[in-house]
Amino acid sequence: MANPLLEVKQLQYSSEELIDLNLTVKKKEIIHQVSFTINHHEFVGLVGPNGSGKTTLSKLLTKIIEPSNGHILLDGVDYVDFRPSWKLHQEVSLVFQQVSSQFIGTDFITDLTLSLKNFGWSIAKIENRIKQLTKQLHLKSLIKRPFRELSGGQQQLLAIAEAIAVKPKLLVLDEPTAQLDSENTFLVDQLLAKIFKEESTSILLISHKPIELSLTQKLLTLNQGTLTGNYSTNEFLLDSNLLKENQLIIPATLAIRDYVYKLTKVQLPLVDLSINSLIKAIETVLC
Ligand SMILES: Nc1ncnc2c1ncn2[C@@H]1O[C@H](COP(=O)(O)OP(=O)(O)OP(=O)(O)O)[C@@H](O)[C@H]1O
Ligand SMILES: [Mg+2]
Repeated sequence: MANPLLEVKQLQYSSEELIDLNLTVKKKEIIHQVSFTINHHEFVGLVGPNGSGKTTLSKLLTKIIEPSNGHILLDGVDYVDFRPSWKLHQEVSLVFQQVSSQFIGTDFITDLTLSLKNFGWSIAKIENRIKQLTKQLHLKSLIKRPFRELSGGQQQLLAIAEAIAVKPKLLVLDEPTAQLDSENTFLVDQLLAKIFKEESTSILLISHKPIELSLTQKLLTLNQGTLTGNYSTNEFLLDSNLLKENQLIIPATLAIRDYVYKLTKVQLPLVDLSINSLIKAIETVLC
């Protein structure tokens, strides 16, 4: 079997807090001995309740913070050997939980130009990449408008486009649709599906809502800083007991399936969490 793209080995992270004027430091372990792999061109989800350590892990995976112990290897190269850190940021891109904090420029073109210049790209190469991305991801109407005039959903689409501009081997997205309505969530999902289909990048999609991870192939579960499982997405998302054990929100379609079972002992054959799947399942059982 081919070597994994990313190997996370016994990763540990403790934060340090000053607790009094004598400079006493209190250590708090946030990530405990986490190990997992991500393969080349794999779409992986990371799910866990609020405060389980998802954002902290995303910062470790993108070398924004350094682990207290353990190792991360990208294509067999230890993260400690990516020095300075921007060398790693060309290979692993992060879309932040709060996208507005990731923009330095006022609009997409200035922001992406600044960031690609920092990676040593020539202006001609940058212009080419912007042209290509704009066409591929249908962003023409957005790229010149100031970020402050754009909706959260539009900013999210641009933040994702910026993150893939360097053609990273791994794209990490921390709760990209948490603040969005269902229409914008659909647009972001469509964009991610397109990126996964057309690019060779692997994707790690992070959320506290299981339903937002339907696009993924496998799911890692995080609880109180500990990795508690590694499942195929469909197996996990359709299993209410597993969701409950992991203190996750039960999607509405699953709650309805379970309620129908409780009342009638008839198991609706859901194939995914969509309303269409629920309607089909009801038709199958009734017809
Ligand atoms: N710099 C820090 N110093 C101290 N504690 C921190 C720090 N950053 C995070 N924490 C704590 O670590 C735990 C994990 O936080 P983190 O933000 O990684 O969780 P999360 O799973 O992303 O949560 P959410 O779903 O709310 O985004 C929380 O208890 C949080 O209070
Ligand atoms: Mg978070």
